[in-house]
Amino acid sequence: MTKTILRALAGETLPTPPIWMMRQAGRYLPEYRATRAEAGDFLKLCYNPDLAAEVTLQPIRRYGFDAAILFADILLLPQALGADLWFETGEGPRLSRITDMAGVAALRPVDAIHDTLAPIYETVRILSRALPGDTTLIGFAGAPWTVATYMIAGRGTPDQAPAHAMKATDRAAFSALIARITEATVEYLSMQVQAGAEVVKLFDSWAGSLKGQDFTDFAIKPAATIIAALKARHPGLPIIAFPREAGDGYVGFAKATGADCVAIDNSVSPEWAAAHVQKDGCVQGNLAPEHMVTGGAALIAATRHVVQAFRGGPHIFNLGHGITPDANPDHVQLMIDTVRGG
Ligand code: CP3
Repeated sequence: MTKTILRALAGETLPTPPIWMMRQAGRYLPEYRATRAEAGDFLKLCYNPDLAAEVTLQPIRRYGFDAAILFADILLLPQALGADLWFETGEGPRLSRITDMAGVAALRPVDAIHDTLAPIYETVRILSRALPGDTTLIGFAGAPWTVATYMIAGRGTPDQAPAHAMKATDRAAFSALIARITEATVEYLSMQVQAGAEVVKLFDSWAGSLKGQDFTDFAIKPAATIIAALKARHPGLPIIAFPREAGDGYVGFAKATGADCVAIDNSVSPEWAAAHVQKDGCVQGNLAPEHMVTGGAALIAATRHVVQAFRGGPHIFNLGHGITPDANPDHVQLMIDTVRGG
């Protein structure tokens, strides 16, 4: 019996879509907050395989999602490449900045990333033993553009201006950084697969700010390179790509990159995504995460709307972006019951 997520990724249209949720292990869950407190802080939790596996399993135990996503962060890879990384309480990530070619040259060689990332592979090994037999284990990494935006700015930015500026004024350094992240991401994801990840997902959270040729060069091309390299090493490995807020860029993205599934954010309607993206294969998405805060009849109606719109093709039910810390855990259960029960 093949797992439902793997069936959807293989292109099968299922009567009930399999379901998981971005950031399903997170601060909206009291058991997550307790384990994070036990670990000390977020990064210590990421690098503690037993506790990272524990928080990955918490939403599986509570809700019985069809997939578990490895608990880690896209910014661990820059850290493994030599960037300083810390999280400012209530604000978000901070990194040492890459501003020129000397900064790129000073990064650690790609071979060296596994010294830092070994605990992440151990988390994957623990999970592949501990998960229920029908739950799919998803590994992940950030896509090169999104990771580069944090490495260049040293933090999250609303418009990715520092990365766009470096792209315009120091193209050689910018391209070298993208190339280095691309190469490291192949090695990182390949090790996750060797450790037991059954699917991998590339998060390009800031793909929406790349326009025209930049979208081709820095969202499509790096994803295509990573996907081709992974599929050469791991034949049949299913890959989900998430070029968030790509808009028209979603159209043809699976074909252009070789991804098996495109994850869709909630800035586009599910009908539009069904007509223009799902026609090429599996899609994942795209309920607005706000419903996990507000709940009620609107949640039920919006959940049914997403299920109905995508019912004619392969679909994995998910939110359009990560669940937020102010979400109500009961609303998550209501969403799942609505997807599974009608
Ligand atoms: O989806 C999952 O549950 C798997 C784990 C996961 C995390 N981050 C855990 C996390 C995944 C897949 C990510 C991806 C990630 N991290 C992205 C891409 C997806 C997206 O959300 O757009 C990005 C941009 C990051 C970088 C990052 N990590 C930011 C900007 C922040 C701060 C914002 C926030 O929510 O606090 C983080 C922290 C982070 N990563 C948390 C979690 C559970 C919260 C940390 C905490 O417990 O305090």
